[in-house]
Parts: sequence; C-alpha cells; structure tokens
Amino acid sequence: MKSVISSVLLLLLGAMAAFLTVWPSDPFTNRLADDVEQEGLGERIIIKFSHVVAENTPKGLAAEKFAQLAYEKTDGRVEVQVYPNSILYSDHNEMDALMQNEIQMIAPAFSKVATLDSSWLLLDLPFAFLDQQSVDKAFAGGIGKTLFATLKAHGLKGMAFWSNGFKQMTSSRNPLITPEDFAGQRFRIMSSDVLKAQFQVLQASASPIAFNEVYRNIEAGSIDGQENTASNIFTKRLFIGQKYMTISNHGYLGYAVMVNQSFWESLPPDIQQKLEEAMAEATAWNRRQATEMNAQQLAYLTERANLQVHVLTPDERLRWQEAFRPVYARFTPIIGEELMDQLKQLQEQR
Ligand code: LMR
Repeated sequence: MKSVISSVLLLLLGAMAAFLTVWPSDPFTNRLADDVEQEGLGERIIIKFSHVVAENTPKGLAAEKFAQLAYEKTDGRVEVQVYPNSILYSDHNEMDALMQNEIQMIAPAFSKVATLDSSWLLLDLPFAFLDQQSVDKAFAGGIGKTLFATLKAHGLKGMAFWSNGFKQMTSSRNPLITPEDFAGQRFRIMSSDVLKAQFQVLQASASPIAFNEVYRNIEAGSIDGQENTASNIFTKRLFIGQKYMTISNHGYLGYAVMVNQSFWESLPPDIQQKLEEAMAEATAWNRRQATEMNAQQLAYLTERANLQVHVLTPDERLRWQEAFRPVYARFTPIIGEELMDQLKQLQEQR
C-alpha cells in the first residue's frame, strides 16, 4: 500500500515539474506563453539595452515599449532587458560596452555620439531647430541618413532617432535672460565641444559631467547651472538647488538608438524584420510621449517647483542667437559644409 502511495506521489510530483517547465510566464503581462516550443531558453535571444535616464522618461518608457513589442512580435523569441538609470553602464562607458557587445543596444544623446564622429555636433548647435517639425524633418531626411552612415565605421548600426525635447537653462545664481547674464557662471554640459563653445561665447565655463552625477554636483555647489529638458530636470530632481529657469528651447535633446552591428548581423532575417517593426512602432510612440511628458513636467516646474521661471521672448531669443553666431562659424569646418548646408536649407524652410 505504502509503495502505491509513494508511486502516486512521485507521479504527481513528476507531472507538476513537467507542467512548470512548460509553463513559462510572460515578463510583460504574465499571460501564458502561446507557443511553449518557442520559449525554450536555448532559443531565446537576449538583447541588453542600457540607458542613463529614469524609467518614467520619454527614453525610459520607449525602451520598455520596444522590449514589449519585440517580445510580442517574435512570440517570445527575443527578450529585451532594459537597464535604466546608469545601473549597468554610465555615459563614460556605455559606448565601449556596446562596441564590445557586452550590451547590444543603447540610446545616447546626440552629444555623446559626437565623441565617435564630429558630424553629430551639428545637432548640438544652439537654435539649430526652432520647432519639433524641423527636428522630425532632419531625422527623416538626408541629415539622419548621413549621421547614421558614420556609425558603421565603429561597428554600430543606427536603428532610430528618439526624441526627448528642447532644452531649458537653469541656474542657482541669477536669472538667465540676456547673453550677459551667463558671465562667470559654471555650467554642467554633456560631453560635446559645441556645448562647451556655446557657454564659452557667453563668458561662462562648462564642464562635461556624466548625467548620473549632475544632481550631486548641483547639491555640492560645484556647478551653478545646467541645461536639460523639463523631463530630465523633473525626473532627476535637478531643479532642487536651482533658483531660476529660462524656457529657452535653445537646443534639442534627442537620441540615437544603436545596436552592435555584428550582433545584428547574427540575427535571423525574420527576427531582424520583427525588431525593425517593433522599433518603428516604439519610435512613433516615443515621439508622442515626449511631447506630452515634457509639456506636463514643464507645467509642474513652472507652477510648483519653487523656481523663478522666465520665458524667453522672441527679441531676447534673437540676442542669444546673435551671441551664438561664432559657434556656427567655428564648427562649420569640423561638422562639414555638406551637413551645414542641409541644416541651412531646413532652417530656410520655416
Ligand atoms: C544628459 O546627459 O543630460 C542627457 O543625455 C541624459 C539623457 O540621456 O537624456
């Protein structure tokens, strides 16, 4: 009798084990996998996607959206693991990690891509774009193509341009209304020669600091101000310790979503196609999300963040643009006449 009971128990345990191994959970919805065969761990393609911003930002959310779409479209064959907040790699080392295929995808701000190829500095030029429509045209047209072509030499492939929005200025020292107001202040910048020059022509100094260290530097008083989108200022609490904000929309913060080229080429063509579809959907979603989030978070910063906010008037903007003119002259030979001409054509269309 005892041995019958043990056999039944063993059978039950065996059945349960078998049941659990073919019952994997879906990381996004916890629904049951439709096709358990596709779910075998050996079959699954892992893409590590590292970034430096918070999860609830246009980039953070778009990365999650892409992960979800990639999983759905490939019936679970691709799992995109998103690592936000510089938890895996920061600005200093994410590019190298991508080239070494330690991670497979990143989405750095354009300024950071300029460390690979100086033509990307084009997108950092102050007031290069006055509205989102011009930015979208640049992404979709010749400028986008030319810039993505530069990545190949570094073993990288550009997959999409994601948006955050226009940058605003903040300071703890004094309101930033005229170009003269910047004199003597110390600003945090992303690592970019154009951004450095942008502050130097205003007689201010600028230090490249990794994004995950900006808050600490404001708190420690080692910088007076910084420039970023409402979304980044809000989610990283960069307004704390700052007294003044100018809605200047003087620069654009967007991202180059890139994948390691050899890794990409190792993927089966049907998977590549599904990932391209997922990326196209995530990108359209990101553009809508970026506009909405920045508007909401700008409203918070304006109304509730204890900042004195100034909206740059068109006349004031003209004075800033005039002050930035030497930056254009200095960087034209570095960026290249061809790209500069394309930008000029875009600017003349508005
Ligand atoms: C920054 O360093 O300010 C930004 O690049 C952060 C980001 O990726 O949005």
